[in-house]
Amino acid sequence: MGTLIKGGTVVTAVDTYHADVLFEGEQIVAIGLNIPTEKHGVVDASDAYVLPGGIDPHTHLDMPFGGTVTADDFETGTRGAAMGGTTTIVDFALHTRGDSLLNAVRTWHEKAAGKAVIDYAFHLTIADGRDETMAEISKMIREQGVNSFKVFMAYKHVLYVDDETIFKTLQACRDAGGLVQVHAENGDVIEVITKQALAQGKTEPKWHALTRPVECEGEATHRAIRLAEIAGAPLYVVHVSSAMAADAISDGRKRGLPIYGETCPQYLVCDFSDYERPNFEGAKYVLSPPIREKWNQGVLLRKLKNMELQSFGSDHCSFNLCGQKELGKNDFSKIPNGAPTIEDRLAILYEVGVNGGVLGINAFVALGSTNPAKLFGLFPRKGTIAVGSDADVVVWDPKATRTISAKAHHMNVDNNVFEGMTVTGRPRYVFSRGAMVADGEKFVGTKGAGKHVKSATFYPWQL
Ligand code: URP
Ligand code: ZN
Ligand code: ZN
Repeated sequence: MGTLIKGGTVVTAVDTYHADVLFEGEQIVAIGLNIPTEKHGVVDASDAYVLPGGIDPHTHLDMPFGGTVTADDFETGTRGAAMGGTTTIVDFALHTRGDSLLNAVRTWHEKAAGKAVIDYAFHLTIADGRDETMAEISKMIREQGVNSFKVFMAYKHVLYVDDETIFKTLQACRDAGGLVQVHAENGDVIEVITKQALAQGKTEPKWHALTRPVECEGEATHRAIRLAEIAGAPLYVVHVSSAMAADAISDGRKRGLPIYGETCPQYLVCDFSDYERPNFEGAKYVLSPPIREKWNQGVLLRKLKNMELQSFGSDHCSFNLCGQKELGKNDFSKIPNGAPTIEDRLAILYEVGVNGGVLGINAFVALGSTNPAKLFGLFPRKGTIAVGSDADVVVWDPKATRTISAKAHHMNVDNNVFEGMTVTGRPRYVFSRGAMVADGEKFVGTKGAGKHVKSATFYPWQL
């Protein structure tokens, strides 16, 4: 007996058509009209889209950061993801300076195994440019199925690495079939401005944004792209927050370079004024790069439409206001950076992009699923509706409406940066490798059912 998704409109990154979708076991086995219903459990997809499950290429679960550990672990974070229509995440395994990359991957396997409710893959961060670390990159790609490596130009004394390390990482990835990801903000300049602001008694959350001016992101994005150009390596710029950084990516692509860009839901709907909310509520928006002036939102959305930005990640990194964000009550630089966005990533893209009349439904699928799957070596097993692909399927009701709230969400955190926003379009059902994980507002998945998926080697022609 299989599961037959009946009466819906199948949408991939390129096609939209009426068809039924049958899965048996964990894979899609047939797509067609009038597939006989006998012998199968039938799921009603009338008046709904049948989409490939979302791929969230940027999450931080169970991650030590900012003097604390993220509020969501692999169980609660993936539960939120599943409820929002995401069926695979790619989480960052944190490398520790002086330690091996293998240890970082092993640590992240321990965090995820037995907890994740949907499938997961890993990126690695790079904490040092030692010869041993660089030599390990190709091993990680070939043996561990990690195809991407993130370097941080910001977070001085914590995750920051210098240009020498970035350049060596670019060369190593170029040679081994890896994709370098970059957090592009000038960490040296930010440190100077931050110290000066604090010395002047400027301690409120809004100073997080004011000490990380947009030029810091613009400069670092330009620099990273030039470093990639010199190295002859592809580059993926994570969490692009501003028109200035997005323009740098467009410039690189106009020069024919394999540069990719990702933006996130928070940059499409939040703006600088959120930092000025009373009662320390601005701390919810302390994430990096910071939320920018409102006019940037329209530019980022148009870049998504034009595929000048190709990927849409959540950068989910959740901290409670109570007990965690509060660490920076008297000093904005001590507020742990990040926000809970894994659950509402697709809803925001649909609301702002599709309902807003900017994105077509195929672009929605491409940005939220197919492109991340291609970039991170998961396609075509993930990221599309096709015979032989995993039965990671979302029945998406384009008319259903809900209001986002921390009281109702499924993440383990006391705040939501989209609080109060009403969105139209949400999953009716979500399937992970053929098993239902979301039935409307009810989570019906299983702790530990999610499996690790290896990423294939990166090739620039994939996207
Ligand atoms: O504020 C953020 N973005 N926290 C997560 C870490 C990162 O830089 O991606
Ligand atoms: Zn980052
Ligand atoms: Zn991040």
